[in-house]
Amino acid sequence: MAADWSTIESLPQTPLLDLFANDPNRLASLSLDVAGIHFDWSKTHLTPEAIAAFAELAKAQGLAAKRDALFGGEVVNVTEGRAVEHTAERGEGNPESVATARQSHARMRALIDAIEAEALGPIRHVLHIGIGGSALGPDLLVDALGRDTDRYDVAIVSNVDGVALEEVFKRFDPAATLLVIASKTFTTTETMLNATSALQWMTEHGVEDPYGRVIALTANPAKAVEWGIDETRILSFAESVGGRYSLWSTIGFPAALGLGWDAFEELLEGAAEMDRHFRLTDLSQNAPALAAFADLYYTQVRHAETRAPFAYDERLRLLPSYLQQLEMESNGKGVTVDGQPVGRPTAAITWGGVGTDAQHAVFQLLHQGTHLVPVEFIAVIEPGDVLSDDHHRQLLLNAFAQGAALMKGKKTDDPARSYSGDRPSSTILLDTLDPRTLGALIAFYEHRVFVNGVLLGINSFDQFGVELGKEMAKAADQGGQDFDPSTEDLIQRAFGE
Ligand code: F6P
Repeated sequence: MAADWSTIESLPQTPLLDLFANDPNRLASLSLDVAGIHFDWSKTHLTPEAIAAFAELAKAQGLAAKRDALFGGEVVNVTEGRAVEHTAERGEGNPESVATARQSHARMRALIDAIEAEALGPIRHVLHIGIGGSALGPDLLVDALGRDTDRYDVAIVSNVDGVALEEVFKRFDPAATLLVIASKTFTTTETMLNATSALQWMTEHGVEDPYGRVIALTANPAKAVEWGIDETRILSFAESVGGRYSLWSTIGFPAALGLGWDAFEELLEGAAEMDRHFRLTDLSQNAPALAAFADLYYTQVRHAETRAPFAYDERLRLLPSYLQQLEMESNGKGVTVDGQPVGRPTAAITWGGVGTDAQHAVFQLLHQGTHLVPVEFIAVIEPGDVLSDDHHRQLLLNAFAQGAALMKGKKTDDPARSYSGDRPSSTILLDTLDPRTLGALIAFYEHRVFVNGVLLGINSFDQFGVELGKEMAKAADQGGQDFDPSTEDLIQRAFGE
């Protein structure tokens, strides 16, 4: 049955400054601390009344039962008839699935030990090839946490544009390179072509037994065997782990190798702490739920079409693109789980960037443009650099001041120099950036996506929308397919076909 949104839609639209003035407890009731992360939604239009109304809607939509089904390993991805078990990878879920995940982690660890002991030769460079969920997660982890380690030089290549691979070939030594092919299906065109070219590069540079230096990360081990990879170097993971949720599985291999096994385990533990918080905490104090309520308030009531996370930390510069896949591939849907039109907007378009750079590029629109864009500031108290304190102080003060300015605005006699204010933002402040807090942060985003999906009545775990374009690209490659005149003309111009 469709949930009733009318209570939420008829809530008073009180300006942010008035919300603060009217409620001395506002900051306390709209902020909380979990797993080394402080969350502050007080500069959004959420109120205790709005939260209560969303909690009612969550009840009507069966959120608690659906959350139990998710953690219990039941088939929640109904359109693909699958369970959704990324939490089992971090030890939270159906005991059988947790045990399977532990076994595959143990194999991954043993292989890492062997690589460290130079059983595959002297490896210094790790070339990880994958795309989408098989690249964005590992890339984020290695980029965010790898700057102070000198274990291995890890490069993640996703684009089928050969320029991406060539850039890595220029700086990697083929004789010291480990090739990691990451693909859940082991059929993705871009990944298989890149893998073939990388193997060829190793062969052409005289690497003896190049196949002996290839590792596969996949849920389709039979295909990896077919490709020529020895079973001892195939690290499989469960079909029930979705691509964009897979960094906790063996897809996290480059992070576990590049950062060390202890770091990978801490990442899983941080995520598990967020899992327990999400599973056991009342919705009024539940970080992923409150964040989802704010998302839904803006998409459904205020008709915001986008949302913009800004990482005020260079180490988290890849977070916005990671979130784009997580949020838009999960909740960019048009039908409910029953196949009916949703009848309301689903996921906001996620975009964002890095502060302070973005302030000098796109913040003009956030302060004075005609779109309402809920902004999210993500920052870290402990600096990542060892330069003078001024750098980090400037960085954080800018993040905080931007949120204050968006909310407060400024009235002048000159309309061009006036700021309307009352523009919402939330802040996520990590004590420090380490594997544990990053694990918790990513798990927070995953559960927030889930709550959004449940309240909208959609399946967050399929992605059929990406299939048609793939099919048509394949058809174009194979020829013999009639396209529209514009597409035919483009093909003719590019290839003379
Ligand atoms: O095209 C979308 C997608 O299926 C993503 O969901 C997935 O993360 C990515 O492609 C890569 O798929 P695979 O891991 O099977 O190569």
